[in-house]
Amino acid sequence: MATASNEIPTTMNAFVLTEHGDLNALKFHTDWPVPTPNDDQVLIKVKACGLNNTDINTRTGWYSKAVTEATSGGGYDKVDDEDPTWGGAPITFPRIQGADVCGEVVAVGKNADASLIGRRVLTDNWLRDWADPMNREGTGYFGSECDGGYAEYAVLDRRNVGPIDSTLTDAELATFSCSSTTAEGMLSRANVTDKDTVLVTGASGGVGSALVQLAKRRGARVVGMASEAKHADVLKLGADVMLPRSPTNLQSALKQAIGQETVTVVADIVGGPTFPDLVEVLSRGGRYTCSGAIAGPMVDLDLRTLYLNDLTFTGSTVIEPHIFHDVVGYIERGEIKPVLAATYPLADLQKAQQAFIDKKHTGNIVVIP
Ligand SMILES: NC(=O)c1ccc[n+]([C@@H]2O[C@H](COP(=O)([O-])OP(=O)(O)OC[C@H]3O[C@@H](n4cnc5c(N)ncnc54)[C@H](OP(=O)(O)O)[C@@H]3O)[C@@H](O)[C@H]2O)c1
Repeated sequence: MATASNEIPTTMNAFVLTEHGDLNALKFHTDWPVPTPNDDQVLIKVKACGLNNTDINTRTGWYSKAVTEATSGGGYDKVDDEDPTWGGAPITFPRIQGADVCGEVVAVGKNADASLIGRRVLTDNWLRDWADPMNREGTGYFGSECDGGYAEYAVLDRRNVGPIDSTLTDAELATFSCSSTTAEGMLSRANVTDKDTVLVTGASGGVGSALVQLAKRRGARVVGMASEAKHADVLKLGADVMLPRSPTNLQSALKQAIGQETVTVVADIVGGPTFPDLVEVLSRGGRYTCSGAIAGPMVDLDLRTLYLNDLTFTGSTVIEPHIFHDVVGYIERGEIKPVLAATYPLADLQKAQQAFIDKKHTGNIVVIP
């Protein structure tokens, strides 16, 4: 293993998930072992780590098919032990969660490029079989199927780090990876172009604020949906017009806002009770793309709308590897902006997650080790 000249300690501060449950399932340790990279890994000194719903969903077991309600930060009574994670398989405890790391490479395994040492990097969170990167059966997520970034140090495969040149702060950079790659994956799967009008749900959140910026980057017209207190923030990110989180009549709200009752694309991370209205406002041949269901996974679908209107539905989770590198380029060229709502010390992760769950913020929240 090659290391930077500064000494690497043997123990570190880390927030460790010990079981599925509420915020008390997270325990802070000051003497957790610093991981050692294997031949293909690098050791990252974590400078900042962004929060994500996947940490909350995994902690609470929301991904379990036994859970049918909206995401909440507390635990659920009826989680099935067999499928409590995004990939539908159990995880092992203890587990350090946290995916969106901005940090510095301080050591590398023997197969990794030693020139990475000292580089500022973002993490590409999709763990892959690098012999067959789009084999979805061989994927995992940083902070879920392996330890992540709610700690002072983390290890990750050399192919999962992206060096970045940017004047943004570590905390600002830690807002991007999960939300922006997810958003870009959705837009690319729905083939969004400058001919589209894209309706973005949850436009004030991490993925939603990235969807707004990335759809505008593609030249599309963007209609955002969010709580009214956050409309000004999302308009500043480039949304052409904003609608409430759940308009009473979405068709007439659209007609009033953009002069037409339909859109060509719905990019949805909210789902729940508004879903049927979202599908009804798609024009013939429209595309619905989905990466989340924060307001509830169980929805009503009129199949006649789907087939009679020639709609295309795409789910989007495991994305092509190039998308991470594309997003790094967009950040470096200033084509997308960070939306950093707040930072907390790592030791206050529970408070940070509570604020994240309360949803009074726009964008994302980041912890600093
Ligand atoms: N498939 C993937 O790879 C992937 C990756 C990232 C995220 N996700 C999923 O996508 C969803 C959104 O993630 P995110 O990081 O953007 O979340 P977020 O930052 O928490 O934002 C979600 C937004 O949804 C809005 N919302 C509408 N109805 C809601 C409700 N009933 N409860 C809570 N919020 C509601 C909120 O906006 P207002 O308060 O303004 O209405 C909030 O800003 C989550 O379900 C997450 O698990 C999936």
